[in-house]
Amino acid sequence: MLFDEYKYFDYQFPEPQYLGAKHTHLSWINQYIPKNVETALDAFAGSQSVSFLFKQLEFRTITNDFLNFNNQIGKALIENKCNKLDDDDLMTLLQQSPNKNDFHLMEDIFTDVFFERDEAVFLDNFRANIPLLETPYKQAMAFAVMNRSMTRKITMGHFAHTQALVYAGDPERIKRNRSLIRPIRDLFLDLLPSYNNAVFDNGQDNKSVNENILDLLPKLSNIDLVYFDPPYCDSHADYQGFYHLLETYTEYWCDKEFVNGTKRYEPQRYSGFDKKRDVITSFEKLFELSGEIPYWLISYNDRSYPGIAEFQKIISKYRDVQIEVKTYQNGRGGKGSVAGSQEILFVCKPKKQYFVSTIKQKELEYAEL
Ligand SMILES: C[S@@+](CC[C@H](N)C(=O)[O-])C[C@H]1O[C@@H](n2cnc3c(N)ncnc32)[C@H](O)[C@@H]1O
Repeated sequence: MLFDEYKYFDYQFPEPQYLGAKHTHLSWINQYIPKNVETALDAFAGSQSVSFLFKQLEFRTITNDFLNFNNQIGKALIENKCNKLDDDDLMTLLQQSPNKNDFHLMEDIFTDVFFERDEAVFLDNFRANIPLLETPYKQAMAFAVMNRSMTRKITMGHFAHTQALVYAGDPERIKRNRSLIRPIRDLFLDLLPSYNNAVFDNGQDNKSVNENILDLLPKLSNIDLVYFDPPYCDSHADYQGFYHLLETYTEYWCDKEFVNGTKRYEPQRYSGFDKKRDVITSFEKLFELSGEIPYWLISYNDRSYPGIAEFQKIISKYRDVQIEVKTYQNGRGGKGSVAGSQEILFVCKPKKQYFVSTIKQKELEYAEL
């Protein structure tokens, strides 16, 4: 590999805390990326870890997630070429907000659920200031870092439980994880440099999108590679249940109900990939709509529905497929990644009879991998 190909690899992806994030699998996934890709789509981007790899590889990167808080990370770290948060921005974000009176959702809904009142008020005030930053990219940086700060502060790093304040009052837990009692402002200030240092320009016009992938695909063309990392149905697929607080903070909903002990918003966005009754039809649709994209990489897990053999059968209708397997040694990583379970990568390339004339060159190069 030429030295030039590593020129963006000094930039570090800020470590996420997100179920199913692939930051620990990037070098494994990278081995199966075909040569001569110009444009790549990360269809279910989540924390944006794979998009960040695509950006480092100098691809024109299109990243998408149907949850806006993930899209904000995409705007901040994938689409953004140069906007960092500086001291003036921090003054804006931390000032007593001129718009404070209109911002009290966190205080009203989440006081004594995830936060003490003063922390909820701080979050509202900070949120009121985000629109005062001068560019959408700076605003996206503020969302990305503040949302990450919330996952650091709240025990277990997700919001599908009501133990946050119980654990934050337990000396044993605090000894193991001081973030539980640290002010969210301090967590934000600690995390910010790692996000600022991850902003770079790879010479491409990258794009972050916030749509259901089934709505987005018909609008795209000239994609060489798509990476699919769908929720693993039947095994922690309810991303809106786990991360509702971040979506609520980002959207600042005024037209939702907040239900059950965790105050999850209702109605939820429609995924199509998180419920057994929908998922097979959604995959069929997804693959139909991806007909023009020659190369597909699909992450999967051996505890998902449909099972590996059935899923392979579905993919085989559209692509030649090879299965790569990585076994988890421990339980880190969420989304069914318990010890002994397997991370699967379906490496898919065009069936020869359909693509010989249009992408012969790419086919030949792929065969050389
Ligand atoms: C397994 S996670 C992706 C993890 C990601 N590769 C990473 O490294 O962080 C699946 C993602 O799909 C998103 N998602 C679920 N249904 C979707 C849909 N219909 N369209 C787009 N995104 C969807 C979820 O919000 C979630 O972030």
